[in-house]
Amino acid sequence: MFFFSRYPTTRILHLHCVARRHFTVLAVESSADDTCAAIVTSSRQILSNVVIKQHDLHEGFGGIHPMIAIEAHQRNMPIAVKRALGEAKLDVSKDIDGIAFTRGPGIGGCLSVGSNAAKTLAAALNLPIVGVHHMQAHALTPLLTSWPNPPKFPFLTLLISGGHTLLLLATSLTSFRILATTPDESIGRTFDKVSRMLELKWSNLGPGAALEQFCAQTWESDLPKIPALPWPMRGKLGFSYASFHSYVERYISSRGGIQELDMATKLALARTFQTAAVAHLEEKLVLAYEWCVTQNIEVCDVVVSGGVASNQFLRGRLQECLIKLNPVNPISLCFPPPHLCTDNAVMIAWASMHRFLARDYDDYTVNLRSKWNIDELSPN
Ligand code: KG4
Ligand code: ZN
Repeated sequence: MFFFSRYPTTRILHLHCVARRHFTVLAVESSADDTCAAIVTSSRQILSNVVIKQHDLHEGFGGIHPMIAIEAHQRNMPIAVKRALGEAKLDVSKDIDGIAFTRGPGIGGCLSVGSNAAKTLAAALNLPIVGVHHMQAHALTPLLTSWPNPPKFPFLTLLISGGHTLLLLATSLTSFRILATTPDESIGRTFDKVSRMLELKWSNLGPGAALEQFCAQTWESDLPKIPALPWPMRGKLGFSYASFHSYVERYISSRGGIQELDMATKLALARTFQTAAVAHLEEKLVLAYEWCVTQNIEVCDVVVSGGVASNQFLRGRLQECLIKLNPVNPISLCFPPPHLCTDNAVMIAWASMHRFLARDYDDYTVNLRSKWNIDELSPN
């Protein structure tokens, strides 16, 4: 068991730091296919942010291959931690006050690489640990990156990634009410599948970003008309993306396969898909806002985070949507910078900070939660 009272005298210095509310966290993240390490202070300084991507390793498998991801995390985690300390110019034995890691949700074997690294480092250095909820970390990122005008609770948050499509009402650092989720596929996974069906080259970009880049190219001549995509769960607070990629799949096979599509048709199809996928988010965001009004919940901010939130087309469309919703006093939209929308350890360090400052540490025996609903974080 891990008792704070067992700390030797050197730890008293750390306790003193906590009392003065200055804390430096080394965090690791390895829930999916990025190996990440970062160092962040309680005064909002990002001292380092290392992300080692694995896109190229998974390209041939049509998705993340768990065993290959685990092996890559095992190879890369020591490199990421060493680089994070080097870039921050910190001495791990003197300058780090606590170690954070992603406790879940995510791929079990991948999570365990980060968790074991964090716990072992902490045990060797006699430091406290905090295990963080990955989606809570995405949601809280703008409290770090939008300083000095962070979103104010209660805010709506759209978390759009490879693993999730969530629309939440955040009422505190730890209280999230799920307003909409998806029973089938996430928006990120759908971008990935459509990108693969279109046989786009993605190498170090990743499939979703490659699709965005493909759609953004300039095209002078007319594009063919693509029939409208389905509009699932119309009028309901819920997402469904499975029908989007089935539609694209059916369209391609009805035309005799991807090799039979010329560039203009491919582009029209990609743009029609991207517009429909974002329109699905817009509709649910408006419904959630209207629900808040009926509940007398005054929401002034919307936070959009997760890998798909780095999409610039989506950013523009959501901005227009919120202006249309309330032209006089538009709700403000907060996006972390794109490199902090995709997975990173800065967000893990930041989401752990309030717990370190409150000395609310986890035991070294804390278990992983590969499945973990964000509404379970609420204290009651
Ligand atoms: O948050 P994230 O990095 O990892 C998860 O927690 O899943 O999100 C990864 C997802 C992938 O599906 C990726 O293709 C998608 O985000 N993504 C994008 C863009 N950048 C990343 N999707 C659309 N447009 C982008 N620019
Ligand atoms: Zn993520």
